[in-house]
Formats: sequence, structure tokens, C-alpha cells
Amino acid sequence: MQHTADTGTKLSVVGNAAPGKRALITGASSGLGVEFAELLAAQKVNLVLAARRREPMEKLAAELRRKHGVDIVIEPIDLAAPGAAARLKSSLDERSIQIDVLVNNAGYGLHGAFLETPIERTTDMIQLNITAVTELSYAFGRDMAARGSGQILLLASLLGLQPVPTFAAYAATKSYVLAFGEALHDELRPNGVVVTSLCPGHTETGFDAAAGAPVSLMLRLLTMKPRPVAESGLRALSRGKASVVAGFMNKVVAFSNRLTPRSMQRAIMKGVVDA
Ligand SMILES: NC(=O)c1ccc[n+]([C@@H]2O[C@H](COP(=O)([O-])OP(=O)(O)OC[C@H]3O[C@@H](n4cnc5c(N)ncnc54)[C@H](OP(=O)(O)O)[C@@H]3O)[C@@H](O)[C@H]2O)c1
Repeated sequence: MQHTADTGTKLSVVGNAAPGKRALITGASSGLGVEFAELLAAQKVNLVLAARRREPMEKLAAELRRKHGVDIVIEPIDLAAPGAAARLKSSLDERSIQIDVLVNNAGYGLHGAFLETPIERTTDMIQLNITAVTELSYAFGRDMAARGSGQILLLASLLGLQPVPTFAAYAATKSYVLAFGEALHDELRPNGVVVTSLCPGHTETGFDAAAGAPVSLMLRLLTMKPRPVAESGLRALSRGKASVVAGFMNKVVAFSNRLTPRSMQRAIMKGVVDA
């Protein structure tokens, strides 16, 4: 069966059937996750919010229930723990909660010299940014494919377009997400499932604090607010695109990358994140 993504309405990610559908948003306690929740709730999409911190999700849920009258389930969970994705899926299955839209957003960066970063921090990040994303896509993607419809948004990054010294492992996790997502886009399309990868550039969220990253002058100039970034991801998903780079300036960066040798890409990106 061919996918039936709505291509008409600006942010209508689930077409005319949006009311009553349900989205699972990981990393819904701050930053882009909150924006996805607000945008989807405004379309009367019911939600499952998943992250480690319960309190910010409860506050957000109360506000969105009041404003939009949607049903919201909170799932406090550490998605970097082994088997977390399967546990989340079982917990929702036990309550017969079906996921129509999966927003694979939880993730974080690690800035600094690879050899000076405790290896446990790097492997924890890989577990969240790669393993959990892969396992969630598998668990919920299978159900969606069996039903012949569904939407999956993956959070890649502009840093995933090339290697980035001082963000070596993080940038590589996002290269994985982008390659994985674009391949799944083609694989799942015949099953009616749209898979879109969103590449934000630097965005004003809790990312820098979590990554321990300084914000260079160049990055400040390129920084976007989280709302338009989330909108561009949901718009691309609704249009059935394989991937999208958020924002005009980030698109220019991504395009100019294609014209540059990889050694120069690495040098430029190191300059941008560390200047
Ligand atoms: N901001 C940027 O410049 C930028 C650029 C490109 C890509 N991205 C990507 O965008 C996504 C969202 O990040 P953000 O910018 O919105 O940063 P953020 O504000 O720090 O949000 C990260 C979210 O991930 C959740 N999270 C972290 N570790 C988790 C874990 N072990 N289990 C479950 N949830 C966890 C956090 O919630 P808890 O702490 O409550 O668990 C939080 O809700 C990430 O995948 C990031 O890599 C961000």
C-alpha cells in the first residue's frame, strides 16, 4: 500500500484523521520535544510524552490538556538503559495505546576531546542516540507497517553531515541517524509508513548545557529558535520527505558542504563549534 501523507495543510502531519491519532514524543521534557508536543496537541493529536524528568512533562501535559483538550500519557523513562525501548512499547501495549506518529527526539551531545571524556559517557550517548532510536523505530515501525500507515520523525543534525572534531562521537551518532532514516524512508514507504529525518543546526534549547559546549560567535549567528525547527520537521514529515535541513542558513551550510573536500569540512566545522 502506498503512503497517504497529507501534502496540503501546512502542519497537518496526520492529514484529516489527525484528531484522535496519537504521537509518542521522546525527549519531551525540554527543548525541541516541548515544541513538537505543543504543535501536535494544537492539531488535536493525543500524546505520549517520554523522558527522564517527570515534573516538566506533567506541567506541559496539564497546560496542553487545558488548552487543546487532548489526552496525554506521561512515561518517565531513561531511554539509555538497555531494553528501555521494549519496556516502553510493552507498557503502552498493556494499556492498548496505539502510536500513529513517533517523534524520535531524545538525544544529547558530548563536546570535548574524545580521549579525555570518560568512555561511559560516550557509550551512554550512543545507547540513547543510536540504540534507543533504532529499537523504537523497530518496535513502533512494525506495528505501523502492519496497519499500513504511520509516521516516524528522526532527529539527526547538521553535525551529522560531516565528521566534527571535538564532537566526534556525537556527530557520528547523527550521521547514523540520517543514513538510517533515509534508508528506512525508502524501505517503509511501500508499507504506508513515512520516515523523515530532521537536521537542525544550532538551536536554542538545553543542548549546549547538556553537551558542555561553548557557543562560538559563529554559532550564535546561526542559532535558530526551537519552534521553526520543529515546524520544519513536522512539515517535511507531512509532505513525505526523506530528510530536511531546518532553516535557510543551515540549508546554505549543508549545500556548500557538498562542494568542499572532507578534510576542509572537518576543519570548517571544528572552527564553527570551537571558535
Ligand atoms: N539544540 C541543537 O542545537 C540541536 C541541533 C541538532 C540536533 N539536535 C537534536 O535535537 C534533539 C533534541 O534536543 P534539544 O536540542 O531539544 O535538547 P534538550 O533541550 O537538552 O532536550 C533533550 C531531551 O532529551 C531527553 N533525554 C536526554 N537523555 C535522555 C534519556 N537518557 N532518556 C530519555 N530522555 C532523555 C531530555 O529529557 P530528560 O533530561 O528529562 O531525560 C530532553 O527532554 C536531540 O536528539 C539533539 O541531538 C539538537
